[in-house]
Amino acid sequence: MNYRHAFHAGNFADVLKHVVLVALIESLTRKDKPLAYLETHAGAGSYDLGGDASKTCEFRDGIARLWDLGEAPGPLGRYLELVRGFDGNGGGLHGYPGSPWLAARLLRPGDRLRLAELAGGPAKGLEALFRDDRRVRVERRDGYGALRAWLPPPERRALALVDPPFESQLAEFRAIETALDDALRRFPGGVYAVWYPIKRRADLNPFVRWAAGGGHRHVLRIELMVLPDNAPLRLNGCGMLVLNAPFDLDRTLAPSVRVLVERLGRDPRAATTMDWLARD
Ligand SMILES: C[S@@+](CC[C@H](N)C(=O)[O-])C[C@H]1O[C@@H](n2cnc3c(N)ncnc32)[C@H](O)[C@@H]1O
Repeated sequence: MNYRHAFHAGNFADVLKHVVLVALIESLTRKDKPLAYLETHAGAGSYDLGGDASKTCEFRDGIARLWDLGEAPGPLGRYLELVRGFDGNGGGLHGYPGSPWLAARLLRPGDRLRLAELAGGPAKGLEALFRDDRRVRVERRDGYGALRAWLPPPERRALALVDPPFESQLAEFRAIETALDDALRRFPGGVYAVWYPIKRRADLNPFVRWAAGGGHRHVLRIELMVLPDNAPLRLNGCGMLVLNAPFDLDRTLAPSVRVLVERLGRDPRAATTMDWLARD
């Protein structure tokens, strides 16, 4: 396990993932019933952009390109407000929050967070970050195994975020499919959001076929391409796949995603797509 998210914190992929996460949590917390937030690959929860992130500077093509944005629509606006208010960012962009921190800020006192992280360093970071937050439990274990153990949740309402490092590359897609098929059997009503990298478009075909088939309902695909999708060794774009997505998630996200492609695109062919792979 070599992946370290600190090198990538705040890049365009984090931005898309976190804007979609904000939209999902805002939508699911509208109902006055407790929600379980389950994250399989949680990371450290907090990143110093002067640390490892400054060695790659990926955040310069991500959050830094949005930092000075004035008016921002819906979930993008809320996301920027949270990142600007993140530990010490009042005086400029110095740190970047991870998904667990963003989720914890948006969830309510009666909601619960279960966070799995396998690597010791990030797991310790999470424990320290949430030491005083009784809603949060951090588990140092494999995220797919954790998801199996967490479902079905006592609340009977859950949002799961699956954000693996894709160290095993295309094999990770098969692991996701297996984990989500199992999760849907255990808890068919859960909302499951998956982040995935886009290098070469054709490599995604089996995953898209799986998502569109298998009796899945309400599957929304949201993609952001900052470069053309034809180079296998480069992160050209990324996507979020949401199973059991709220019916209006596409309309909620559309204005935000348009701003993301304008600001984060690095090629005239930069583009975004949002479509329902399944909808009944
Ligand atoms: C992309 S990062 C997560 C970033 C985080 N979701 C966020 O948006 O802030 C993936 C994380 O998965 C962790 N990881 C790797 N293999 C894992 C496994 N089998 N189970 C749980 N976590 C794992 C890595 O240590 C890394 O911190």
